[in-house]
Amino acid sequence: MNKIKTNNIITIDGPAGSGKSTIAKIIAKDLGLTYIDTGAMYRAMTLIALDNNIGLEDEKSILARAKDIKLEIDSSASDENNYTKLRLDNVDVTDEIRSREVGAAVSIVSKLSGIRKYLVSIQRELAGEGNAVLEGRDTGSIVCPDALLKIFLTASIAERVKRRKLQLYKKNQKVEVSSIEEEIKNRDHIDSSREDSPLVVPEDGIEIDTSDMTILEVINKIKQLYYDRTKT
Ligand code: DC
Repeated sequence: MNKIKTNNIITIDGPAGSGKSTIAKIIAKDLGLTYIDTGAMYRAMTLIALDNNIGLEDEKSILARAKDIKLEIDSSASDENNYTKLRLDNVDVTDEIRSREVGAAVSIVSKLSGIRKYLVSIQRELAGEGNAVLEGRDTGSIVCPDALLKIFLTASIAERVKRRKLQLYKKNQKVEVSSIEEEIKNRDHIDSSREDSPLVVPEDGIEIDTSDMTILEVINKIKQLYYDRTKT
């Protein structure tokens, strides 16, 4: 795979609930960089499979259908929950890709190598001009291994469950803590054990445990690391 050149790119990877999305969006805004949500693209592929009654492991059919559909990710616009706007064939699916149904199926679709290859090429194209913050599971290890700064966020299971519960609560969804914990552990297991591009700390990546940190503390830490690397 071709590596893209280091060009003012920050990658932020980590498991569900580690705070990636919140942190990556604020960092991008504060530093004037483009935010690229790679998880949204895996969610879009999953929605395509579900909407077209394609089996979640039927890579060929998902890919064939996906290549016929215009995928647009609008990094400059977000909905009321601060999610990046995503359109499939001009239809806004920002809400649909965040459904529990898609959430439960996305780890299966994101195991498929053909899907990963397709999305990585789109992600590299989006990041090609640099000046971007990429967020996901493999953005530092696979998509942009030469990024200027590679961050890997973690947090304890208990803290991640607490954050997810709060997120669902804000959306008026009441879910048992035990089922949230099971969902997170299941996703962790699939994301970390898959053969292609598993969730790993990238080479030269900096791991930050956010369990006992405020959002502002994490942001300031990443910004300091960025300034240290960009100062002349
Ligand atoms: O960050 P998220 O919850 O929106 O990601 C949804 C799923 O997509 C996640 O369970 C794993 C997959 N994913 C991936 O495999 N590689 C990425 N770079 C981003 C997400």
